Amino acid sequence: MIIAIDGPSGAGKSTVSKSVAKALGFNCLDTGAMYRSIAWYALEHGVSLEDSAALGEIARERAISFSHEPGNPAPKQVFIDGVDVTGDIRTARIDRSVSSASKHPEVREALVEQQRRIGSQGDYVVEGRDIGTVVFPQAEVKVFLTASNEERARRRVAQNETRGVGSVDFDEVLADIVRRDELDSARETSPLVAAVDAKCIDSTGFTIDEIIEQICAMARAAG
Ligand code: C5P
Repeated sequence: MIIAIDGPSGAGKSTVSKSVAKALGFNCLDTGAMYRSIAWYALEHGVSLEDSAALGEIARERAISFSHEPGNPAPKQVFIDGVDVTGDIRTARIDRSVSSASKHPEVREALVEQQRRIGSQGDYVVEGRDIGTVVFPQAEVKVFLTASNEERARRRVAQNETRGVGSVDFDEVLADIVRRDELDSARETSPLVAAVDAKCIDSTGFTIDEIIEQICAMARAAG
């Protein structure tokens, strides 16, 4: 079974995906980490984020992989080309750059193919922007998770504080979230949009546990 969880930055997708996967005994795939890894690799190697051919080649040729701890569906580490980028892909520098890297059809094509291959290997909760619309349109459960801009910025600041990476300045995080939503929603290829058959959940005012329970109930009903 595939549970697709799409939505804008900071809506709580990661926390919800990990908890739903844990509750149901599923694996987790964070597709945002894959786009972030491509942006990191390009910046590290001086490749322009506007060079679609070079970025496409990186996405096709540089292997992205995840390491896991037994019993924990959330990846422990993210690697690209053998380099551990777990912390580096969460910095403000990557927050600012990733939407430029992810807009190129060449990049999306290569990563979507990898995402489909990974998802075909078992039961997965897959989080991203285009999972229910493009990557797994046949997903048994589709959720589009949103929250108000301010709520999302508050959560992202708290997450960055806990992780010890990324900006903890509320106004800076809010501005990044709004800018990234605009870029992700306006791009031509696979824009951020709810699938017509997705259940839209506005998490503002709900506890994370309430959202998790709602999605687990949808999965049980679908399975
Ligand atoms: O989910 P996260 O905030 O880590 O995603 C980072 C960026 O990766 C998004 O802002 C978007 O540009 C891109 N992305 C995407 N399609 C996905 C997942 C992420 O374009 N399925």
